[in-house]
Amino acid sequence: MAPFIPPEKISEIQRSINIIDIVSDHVTLKQAGKNFLGLCPFHQEKTPSFTVNEEKQIYKCFGCGDGGTVFNFLMKQESLTFPEAVNVLAEKANIRIDVFDKKKEHQGTNILFKVNEQATRFFVDMLLKTQEGKRPRDYISSRSINDSSIKKFRLGYAPNRWDSIVNKSKEWGADTQLLERAGLIIKKQDKCYDRFRNRLLFPIFDSQNRPVGFGARALDNSLPKYLNSPETPIFSKSKTLYGINWAKESMRKTRKVLIMEGYTDVIIAHQNGIDWSIAVLGTALTREHVRMLKRYCDKAILVFDADTAGQKSSEKNLDIFIEEDFDVSIVLLPKGYDPYDFIIKKGKQQFLEQVEKAYDFFSFKVKLSERKWDMSSVSGRTSAIDDILSTAMKIPDILKRDLTIKRIAEEMSIDEQLLRNHLTKFTSSKKRQTEARRPHDQITSNLSKAKSADYKVEMAILGLMINRNDLIIKVETDIGFDSFSNNEIRNIAKRISEIYSQKGQVILSDIFPMLDSSEMSRSMVDTISEQESMEKSLMVGQEDAGKKMLKACILHIRKKKNSKSLEQAKKKMSDLYKSKGSEQEVNQILAGVHKKSMTIHSLKKSG
Ligand code: CTP
Ligand code: MN
Repeated sequence: MAPFIPPEKISEIQRSINIIDIVSDHVTLKQAGKNFLGLCPFHQEKTPSFTVNEEKQIYKCFGCGDGGTVFNFLMKQESLTFPEAVNVLAEKANIRIDVFDKKKEHQGTNILFKVNEQATRFFVDMLLKTQEGKRPRDYISSRSINDSSIKKFRLGYAPNRWDSIVNKSKEWGADTQLLERAGLIIKKQDKCYDRFRNRLLFPIFDSQNRPVGFGARALDNSLPKYLNSPETPIFSKSKTLYGINWAKESMRKTRKVLIMEGYTDVIIAHQNGIDWSIAVLGTALTREHVRMLKRYCDKAILVFDADTAGQKSSEKNLDIFIEEDFDVSIVLLPKGYDPYDFIIKKGKQQFLEQVEKAYDFFSFKVKLSERKWDMSSVSGRTSAIDDILSTAMKIPDILKRDLTIKRIAEEMSIDEQLLRNHLTKFTSSKKRQTEARRPHDQITSNLSKAKSADYKVEMAILGLMINRNDLIIKVETDIGFDSFSNNEIRNIAKRISEIYSQKGQVILSDIFPMLDSSEMSRSMVDTISEQESMEKSLMVGQEDAGKKMLKACILHIRKKKNSKSLEQAKKKMSDLYKSKGSEQEVNQILAGVHKKSMTIHSLKKSG
């Protein structure tokens, strides 16, 4: 659903702003030679390792490894999506953004936010300003939700009628098609009905504080207890977390999040100052949820309702937290309580004590699997160990993983060496699986190890094209883009050369819209800054390190090309032999093979 932003527009915006200015709004920068230096805003540090390169318009932290363009910086710092970051910068640069809405769809999503905002206001008025609002108001106060929470969470009431939204929407200029798309009404045989009737409304917001949907609670015991907005272009349960808009600041400060199950849990927690609480919308946690949280914090504390805890926490999907390098713990409330009940009945202090006492995720897993398997039998024990190790192996940080395994051995009273032996068996059989499930960042930081020599060489060439615009022509003439074996790299290289011939200059931000995988973006920044420092240290006398690097890369690609065609020629020859080709033909090919192997030989010598 990402809106289409013309690349020229992005270039224009990025050229009219300076990354130094943008970063300086958040980080105190000091000039140190060619670079600017400061304390990284994305991890805790006392000595600065965060650098910003004005010429290249990129930043790179040598502490946490994060890096990128001004867009990456804003996206991370302000937790924005790419189009949102572009909008912010466009505004700063005084560039009109109306051209962005090229796709009707995007136009449409903007309208959806607007219509939800109107509906939210309408529901709020119905709750606070009408006679019929008295019953839901009484209900709210019976649930100990105070006035300032009613205001903060923008609680509302959908009246007990079939047509209130359709009637009211005439004032907003919204047609029924739009109302239906927003999930506010249901159309049946050309008749329109309000989706929410006689219910207490909890508007649900995205991290930008825009209303994306509604949760609607019955005021009595009628069923369903909650009715939620359907999936719409701006609302998807698997991507939405209730309370993220109110919790994000506190999450960023404390670096942790409290994950609950219900709307009322979140409201009562916030009302009691526990404002780093959010809730899923009655669904399982997804990777999208976890990634969203990762923008703000690294520690997740899950508070399950006592009744569902066992089944929910044993679900494999909690492993996503481990894969995304979260520190996870689990709070088990006494039977019959959810966070709402617990805070109301026992108070904030006791609730926080429960949070303090949270089970570490792995201790919890050990307990669960001891319950699940018969620990007195060998096969039961083996299964339990498998269960736990399969999760432990997903910890991206090797040191952390090692410590965890040590602890698991202790908790399960298993000899550590025995456990490690089991691990070797386990890794060889499961390696490919875990590899595939590793988080992106981990893959990227391991990229140089994991990727082939060809990939590295091609990436290096790409880096050089950005670092040394003057070498672009040489790449084009000496190698040609079709020699790149990686499609993504080839396309980027082509684009770089295109921009260069149009503008006479290319920097990383120019191709940012093409780097749609965060892996590629990270990989580019790493290559560029690696080369920069290398170039400096390689500069001996008059020698041009960049040129030298490129020469080595060109050589590699030529060798590969030649050995490939040698292979082809050899194959053709053996095919001919089999099919009894003429002697002349065979000789011709033989000569070709000879020539090719000579070239390779001489290339090897000169390299
Ligand atoms: N839920 C839902 N549909 C239902 C029941 C529950 O979507 N029929 C979701 C809601 O997001 C709800 C959450 O699951 O907030 C937790 O459900 P529950 O614990 O039953 O509701 P509470 O939020 O605790 O509400 P209350 O305190 O009023 O019981
Ligand atoms: Mn509940």
